[in-house]
Amino acid sequence: MVKQGDWYYWIGENRTENHKVSCYKSMDLVNWSFCNHLLTTNSRVKKHDRATDLTLDIKGRQADIGTGCNIERPKVLYNPNTGKYVMWMHWELPDNYCEARCAVAVCDTIDGEYTYLGSFRPMGHMSRDCNVFQDEDGSAYFISAARDNLDLHIYKLTEDYLAIDRLVCILWPGQEREAPVLFKRGNYYFMLTSGCSGWSPNQSAYAYAKTIEGPWSELYSLGDETTYGSQPTSVLQLKNSQTGSLEHWYLGDRWKGSGEKYYMSEYVLLPLHFKSDTELHLEWRENLNFNIVSSG
Ligand code: GAL
Repeated sequence: MVKQGDWYYWIGENRTENHKVSCYKSMDLVNWSFCNHLLTTNSRVKKHDRATDLTLDIKGRQADIGTGCNIERPKVLYNPNTGKYVMWMHWELPDNYCEARCAVAVCDTIDGEYTYLGSFRPMGHMSRDCNVFQDEDGSAYFISAARDNLDLHIYKLTEDYLAIDRLVCILWPGQEREAPVLFKRGNYYFMLTSGCSGWSPNQSAYAYAKTIEGPWSELYSLGDETTYGSQPTSVLQLKNSQTGSLEHWYLGDRWKGSGEKYYMSEYVLLPLHFKSDTELHLEWRENLNFNIVSSG
């Protein structure tokens, strides 16, 4: 979800017809209207000029958006220096998860038609579940599950956000963490992750650090044993219009698998509670009152 002016834009996966990534918008997070299909098999493809392997897949096949692929976990950042919206995502061939690549697309407007720049393995590493994070100083990061999901990598992006600059750190090697969400609250960075159990949800965990490079804390459980039937995808920072305080809301994917019911996948939205600067809690709520939440 990206805030732009008074609008929240919700960008997500779409496997209907020739669609890949679609977008809805809302001012109150309750009423949503359709904006556009941001990426489709007909999207304009422009070879990225900074990497030679961007349009070829591991087996040397043409690997653009038009040849048939699955796009997962698309995330968009606005780059204030270039004025462009940059989308990072997970890229796979339709029938398996062996390519383990990320892909990048770019657009002049948040809900326009994105130009697809290609897919690749960041610095040669496998890359599956992923997310992005924009820090207060404008620097941006790409977080992705590497080495067959054994490790979690944090990469710093180049100033234009279109490419990888460097590998910043490798988190929890061998512990199989995925579905990463990185955000900052006060003096601490937080990382939410799930375990690896495919489309089935499991116990999520969080960790914290004073700098992105770490050291990162150990992993602490978040939510119940299935994270209320969801996997982390985002944390929203919203201002409570009654108290004026900044609230943090957990957004998770509730998958219905990759088959016929994929399009029925849902989201879980729940308030995150901080018991201290570093202690996080997530509890189930049957009903939410969004009238009290205004634009952050
Ligand atoms: C999940 C992942 C989803 C999707 C799925 C495929 O673990 O979070 O994005 O890739 O695996 O099995």
